[in-house]
Amino acid sequence: MASSSRLSLVFFLIFTCLWKSHAAGRDTLKPGDTLNSSSFLVSKTGKFSLGFFENGISKSSYLAVFHSNKGNSISYAWIANRKTPILYPTGVLTLDKNNSLKITRNGGDPLLLYSASEIFTNNSNIVATLLDSGNFIVQQVNSNGSTKRVLWQSFDHPGDCLLPGMKLGVDRKNGHIWSLTSWSSLYSPEPGPFTLDWDPNEHQLKIKQRGKIRWSSGVFANGRFKFVVPGDEANKMRYNFSIASNENEDYFTYTYTTVDDQSNASEWVLNIMGRLHDFDTKVDIARADYCYGYNNDGGCERWEQPSCRHVGDKFVLKTGYFKPVTSSNSIYTSDSNTSLGYSDCKDTCWNDCGCVGFNARLNNLTGCQFWNGKWEFIEDITDDGTQLFLYTTKPTPNIEGKSTNHLRLSISYEFHIVPQVKNQISQITNI
Ligand SMILES: *[C@@H]1O[C@H](CO)[C@@H](O)[C@H](O)[C@H]1NC(C)=O
Ligand SMILES: *[C@@H]1O[C@H](CO)[C@@H](O)[C@H](O)[C@H]1NC(C)=O
Ligand SMILES: *[C@@H]1O[C@H](CO)[C@@H](O)[C@H](O)[C@H]1NC(C)=O
Ligand SMILES: *[C@@H]1O[C@H](CO)[C@@H](O)[C@H](O)[C@H]1NC(C)=O
Ligand SMILES: *[C@@H]1O[C@H](CO)[C@@H](O)[C@H](O)[C@H]1NC(C)=O
Ligand SMILES: *[C@@H]1O[C@H](CO)[C@@H](O)[C@H](O)[C@H]1NC(C)=O
Ligand SMILES: *[C@@H]1O[C@H](CO)[C@@H](O)[C@H](O)[C@H]1NC(C)=O
Repeated sequence: MASSSRLSLVFFLIFTCLWKSHAAGRDTLKPGDTLNSSSFLVSKTGKFSLGFFENGISKSSYLAVFHSNKGNSISYAWIANRKTPILYPTGVLTLDKNNSLKITRNGGDPLLLYSASEIFTNNSNIVATLLDSGNFIVQQVNSNGSTKRVLWQSFDHPGDCLLPGMKLGVDRKNGHIWSLTSWSSLYSPEPGPFTLDWDPNEHQLKIKQRGKIRWSSGVFANGRFKFVVPGDEANKMRYNFSIASNENEDYFTYTYTTVDDQSNASEWVLNIMGRLHDFDTKVDIARADYCYGYNNDGGCERWEQPSCRHVGDKFVLKTGYFKPVTSSNSIYTSDSNTSLGYSDCKDTCWNDCGCVGFNARLNNLTGCQFWNGKWEFIEDITDDGTQLFLYTTKPTPNIEGKSTNHLRLSISYEFHIVPQVKNQISQITNI
């Protein structure tokens, strides 16, 4: 684990250098143009970049839009191939002569992002452009370069991130749904357990975990939602929410207004524990990770509880290890299903009255391991070799108490891998 993390850090640094050296790049692909793993598109004023990034753990790569010049606190605003990692560095983005936008790669068919549904003549001026809003579009342009028609846009295919101007809701003309889906694990952008949707009937935002509602925003009234940016009126005022409801579409969108010109950026990221967080302003938008089913504060939904869990019980993140108390009553089980993330392990452990802790099972932080029965938790934040990453239940007395400040440092040191990982780890430590 430790050595692979170090390796990944190196890849990450290479990645950082590459995009910096292309900071003054082009923002547009013309038919026949390509973008390979060592080149980037940069939006007109340099705000966003688009390029392949490598996931050091899996040696796979993803085509992503991200905020430029954010140092190592990048998050990926959009990923083209979440479900289909590409062997690094074989991916090439192409707008071909037939005006199809696709990613070609070694070892698989091309991934088609857009293919023209009509025949365009060779002088019809189709181009693919990365805009300053973070939207990557295929458009038909006028001879003076202005947009004539948008044919395809990344904003119609959200990942785990909502940028100002993106929509959540439904396009009634074709039934297309705009919603966010969390990553499956800290290392994998594959669609995971949490979604953020706009409910067009109730006019509320909803966070669901594998289809079950965990959090609701409250109805939209006077330009506000009761449980969006709860309790923080000053920050709430910085977001301008709007909804549209008509025969063509029903959606929620927002813009960000601020007094401080430097920190204009905003991007809402739905993390792997169900927390919706503004990556740029560090403001919490919604905390579905606080929803245990016994509480309804902050927009949490209630659901049926196992009799052994009580109001106030929760999991906390600690570094250390479990020591068996009596071997017959110290049971350790695991599940190597790679579709399971922390939140799934959390649910399973919560619903099992004997479970006192859990962690991910596999190196890529998927799967679950569980501690059942009698274990003593030993906190150990000093020894790198035995550093563990786990949640424990409140009723175990010797888990409670100490500050997690040290913990936060050591964890962000260990998990440098994908920049967003660092961000998400620090979000999880706050649960
Ligand atoms: C990308 O293209 C450039 C220019 O053609 C080339 O020099 C570079 O080696 C290519 N990079 C990769 C990873 O294929
Ligand atoms: C463009 O479409 C034509 C007809 O379908 C096909 O023969 C040709 O190979 C395509 N060109 C590219 C670059 O895909
Ligand atoms: C566009 O030009 C290419 C060669 O540059 C040619 O192969 C293709 O048939 C042309 N397509 C149309 C629709 O005219
Ligand atoms: C560009 O051309 C289009 C169509 O010809 C026109 O409507 C538009 O006003 C022009 N924009 C500028 C900035 O000249
Ligand atoms: C909020 O956004 C709406 C729709 O974009 C706009 O009409 C309105 O002027 C904005 N209000 C503020 C205070 O920026
Ligand atoms: C901040 O927002 C204002 C108004 O929306 C805009 O004019 C300005 O360019 C933005 N600044 C940055 C740094 O993005
Ligand atoms: C793995 O977990 C996923 C998500 O809970 C589940 O849908 C799937 O059936 C599981 N697979 C196996 C083999 O148990």
